Amino acid sequence: MGALSLALAALESSTEAQPADTGQFIFRFDTFGDEQLWTDVLRIHEVIQSSMSPATALAVGLKVDSMALPPDFLATHSLADPATTVELIRLNAVVGLVGTVRGHTLKSVGITCAICHSTVDDSVAPGVGKRLDGWPNRDLNPGAIIALSPAVNDEQKAVYNSWGPGFYDARFNIDGINDPALIPPAFGLQGVGFETYTGDGPISYWNNYVAVTQMGGHGSFCDPRINVCVTQEPDLVTPKLPALLEYQLGLLTPPAPAGSFDPAAARRGEAIFKGKAGCDGCHIPPTFTDVRSGPDPDTPLLHAPDEVGMDPQYALRSATKLYRTTPLRALWQHPPYFHDGSAATLADVVKGLCRKPHQMPVASSTAASRQIEM
Ligand code: HEC
Ligand code: HEC
Repeated sequence: MGALSLALAALESSTEAQPADTGQFIFRFDTFGDEQLWTDVLRIHEVIQSSMSPATALAVGLKVDSMALPPDFLATHSLADPATTVELIRLNAVVGLVGTVRGHTLKSVGITCAICHSTVDDSVAPGVGKRLDGWPNRDLNPGAIIALSPAVNDEQKAVYNSWGPGFYDARFNIDGINDPALIPPAFGLQGVGFETYTGDGPISYWNNYVAVTQMGGHGSFCDPRINVCVTQEPDLVTPKLPALLEYQLGLLTPPAPAGSFDPAAARRGEAIFKGKAGCDGCHIPPTFTDVRSGPDPDTPLLHAPDEVGMDPQYALRSATKLYRTTPLRALWQHPPYFHDGSAATLADVVKGLCRKPHQMPVASSTAASRQIEM
């Protein structure tokens, strides 16, 4: 191929033009070979081909990248026809779903990090717009998608269908316990140090865990603390972790939209947050977590479930059995709150029952809850 035709080929497909080893490409488009799960075992490609119209895909929270669509695509294709979904996958326009299409047949499909940790800005239609990487997709119903698989039995289907939008249980296939957690943001991780609600390890530890044990990627992961060891050669995950880490560290917390909070009340709330309420004893600026403030910054500082008034079960399933103080990032963007979504609003965070340090004296609860609407 000559230089000109190479350049033209690059122009035709902006996604393929991106070097495959950049963190952004890996985050958005790399399946790590997890077609071995989503295609070979779960047969999701057949489900999509036979019955997943774009309307259905949007209803389970999948998002469409408008930048990948040719002009007039939406006006000229039926949103009730599964063939349109196959076309969208051919265009690499379904956020976090990557497939191979031959003729009009979807031959294989896999998922990427973006399916859970990206959404779109809805600038074209609800669920259709520009990508927002790192924003948790709280509309996504991963359980409902998995439950569409013909390989899943009725008992498992009942579990998957019980999770609901925004929730995923990254341990169910390991310990068989049904206790899902909210998909957290993957932005604002700079300086946090230890990830997951239970501080199991640094970013790359967790990326490796999820890519291999949850997404079904072809790679290796071992952690004796949770009795999990998977070895698959070649390892399509580990060599990509450094670039993936850099990309996540660059995803900044989006600022609160102008007008979404009252700045004067926020200043009063800040005084309470740092003063009487003592929130900053654990939520220490600038990351708003204390996980690295123990005697050894390389050992996470964590909290017993009853110290923070949380249900112990989720922690007990983790490597640490404790909870990490959640770094507070763009709280306006991702209600509900706490790992289990047990607080619907920020007001509920501070006034919730059995939420010890989060319980506020009644008189000041309103000001404090406004403060954290920042
Ligand atoms: C099926 C949905 C899903 C997929 C796919 C997924 N994640 Fe997650 N992610 C979650 C959930 C749920 C958690 C919370 C788990 C916990 O804390 O116990 C999480 C936690 C995280 C965290 C920790 C955030 C924090 O504040 O502690 C990071 C970082 C992250 N994921 C990045 C990634 C990357 C990178 C990939 C791709 C390799 C990925 N995730 C794939 C659902 C997903
Ligand atoms: C003793 C340490 C501690 C103190 C003090 C504390 N928190 Fe927390 N906070 C935590 C822990 C641990 C979590 C994670 C709990 C979970 O997800 O189950 C958390 C979670 C949160 C969340 C949920 C964040 C999210 O994205 O889900 C908010 C909001 C919050 N705290 C606000 C506050 C406010 C406001 C105060 C003061 C009234 C406060 N916290 C005091 C430890 C603390």
